[in-house]
Amino acid sequence: MKSRREPDADNATTPWLPAGARAPEKTVWVNGQLVKGGEASLSLFDRGARDGGGIFETVRVDSGRPFDWDRHMERLVLSAAVLGFPVPSAPARLRQALDQVLAAEGLADAAVRMTVTRGIAGGRPTRTGAWLEAEPLPGRLWRGTRAGAARVVISRRPFHPGPLGEFKTTSRLAWDLAREEARAEDVDEAILVGVEGTVYEGAVSNVFAVFRGEVLTPPLAAGVLPGIVRERVLELCAGLGIPAREERLRRDDLANAEELFLTNSVQEVVPVAEIAGRALAAQGVGERLREAYRRFVEVGGA
Ligand SMILES: Cc1ncc(COP(=O)(O)O)c(C=O)c1O
Repeated sequence: MKSRREPDADNATTPWLPAGARAPEKTVWVNGQLVKGGEASLSLFDRGARDGGGIFETVRVDSGRPFDWDRHMERLVLSAAVLGFPVPSAPARLRQALDQVLAAEGLADAAVRMTVTRGIAGGRPTRTGAWLEAEPLPGRLWRGTRAGAARVVISRRPFHPGPLGEFKTTSRLAWDLAREEARAEDVDEAILVGVEGTVYEGAVSNVFAVFRGEVLTPPLAAGVLPGIVRERVLELCAGLGIPAREERLRRDDLANAEELFLTNSVQEVVPVAEIAGRALAAQGVGERLREAYRRFVEVGGA
């Protein structure tokens, strides 16, 4: 009889997995190699594994084409530079990796995540953790994205983005716990509000409110993530003649807004139909922007 500590035969290459457990079978690009399942691993000396020292990007892929790839790469490379990470793989290399992973997984419509870690400490940081993985798009879409309007809650936990909120780091516990609140309430997203009532962002999205036809979104100076879709929506508003600007929003504004909508690279633009159990009557501006953004994606962007 096997002792409980003995690795399962299936886990011969992955002794860190508990007996009987299985790594996901998907193919991932890791540091230049395509690897599968349990072979996709990271050194435990890497600061990405030890301290949450990582940055990442999530890109939506439709029919094999990643949208706004250049803006995602720019955010990744600039974040790496500002935070003193090892230089990430060249964007062209990551683009090849994306095609390889989509082909290996047989995916055309996907959510693709690229992660770069801070590497192993000592001297110049060395790049030891860079990987790219894909998931089928349909499974990643919120119910509200599919239905055309989301239901959201306000997170119960007072939030502050901290000094690194403007970076998409892998230190995401505060945001992840808010996601779990949303899941527990069976809604799409949780809005993060500070103890003093400042509205920041969603757990995985940027927030917009409409007042007297004007679109308002919390300023980047508040420390929110400079979302790629947020930026596109502000550009689309300018093109469509919809007044839009950055403005601090307060908890009360969420209750008094004519409309609310959210943006995220995978979900795109999602009008809000219900917040904290209260129905929002209007979604017109959000719908107009959702459609304008979709058309923009379909023509391949700028
Ligand atoms: C906290 C947070 N804010 C905003 C966003 C939206 O950013 P983007 O439009 O670049 O997807 C995300 C995306 O995951 C996020 O995690």
